[in-house]
Amino acid sequence: MQTLTSGRVISRQAGAVLASAVLLAVTATAALAKPHVAIVATGGTIAGAQTSPQGPGYTAGAFNIETLIAGVPQLKDIADISGEQLVKIGSQDMNDAVWLKLAKRVNELLAGKDVDAVVITHGTDTMEETSYFLDLVVNSDKPVVLVGSMRPATAISADGPGNLYDAVTVAADPDAKGRGVLVVLNDQVFAARDVYKTNTTQVDTFKALDRGPIGRVEEGSAELFEVPTGKHTTASGFSVAGTDTLPKVDIVYAYANMGRELIDAAVKAGAKGIVVAGVGNGNMTAEALQALTDARKQGVVVVRSTRLPSGAVTRNAEVNDDELGFVAAEELKPGKARVLLKLALMKTSDPMQIQQMFRDY
Ligand code: DGL
Repeated sequence: MQTLTSGRVISRQAGAVLASAVLLAVTATAALAKPHVAIVATGGTIAGAQTSPQGPGYTAGAFNIETLIAGVPQLKDIADISGEQLVKIGSQDMNDAVWLKLAKRVNELLAGKDVDAVVITHGTDTMEETSYFLDLVVNSDKPVVLVGSMRPATAISADGPGNLYDAVTVAADPDAKGRGVLVVLNDQVFAARDVYKTNTTQVDTFKALDRGPIGRVEEGSAELFEVPTGKHTTASGFSVAGTDTLPKVDIVYAYANMGRELIDAAVKAGAKGIVVAGVGNGNMTAEALQALTDARKQGVVVVRSTRLPSGAVTRNAEVNDDELGFVAAEELKPGKARVLLKLALMKTSDPMQIQQMFRDY
């Protein structure tokens, strides 16, 4: 027994019980504080399997999300995790129907008070397009993070498990809120609007050549140092609620001696918009320019982007956009320009209104 100066007596045992109760309460509170991160799987190399480690060839999307989550048990130290398999495809097969299904499911999850963030596992081939599409149609400021990998899950040094851990780390970080849709691979964090796959096989393939990364993940914590510019998520004027189809927009790649036949074919196939992956500052041969001018006269909206990896396509440079009624893509490279044009055409076909959208988003 120990007597205190106040005359009150607290037994050593009672003190130990009190300390344990406080510790239990703190631990329970800490456990309650873990965010709920919902993982939605679509396939890709992150879920891929190959017949022999480092051997040739593999199948994207071979593993289900349950297997991916079980492969990174440390995830449960960061967040309460739920997982669901939306589709199981290589992202080269991504399409409007999956985009719409994914966007509606993400909005449904984030509308729930019990979900704090969403992580999407996705192939890297079209991750730059899907992430930007979601950046424009997700109507929540909660974190949405896309993640993939360059090596299959069965590779000798698979990058998927670490990328998935990093993605959940970012998604679970309150500082990620309000930054729009993010892409996390190779310890780096990118804004959906800025990021592109730049190498066919290397793990550091994702880069944002015009803007740079907005953060990084190191030793298990996220450091976010930029806020993406441009309208996105809750500030976006686009919505896919009640939408079952998206306008048809095609991309034509410009090159020396380019003719008009591919442009004419796109118009004949019903394209409502055409994005040109132009040479230099969004240029093309005189013959291709004439085909685009003719397409414009048929009501097709023409956006000049560039086949170059960086730089903005500027209005009225070597092509008189004012005269021809074309749109300059600004920084958006063809794949992302196509995403924005598809959504823009749900609202208007006026080139100057669309030009403002390319400045705003
Ligand atoms: N099939 C490709 C895809 O799903 C593999 C590339 C990858 O996921 O890294 O995008």
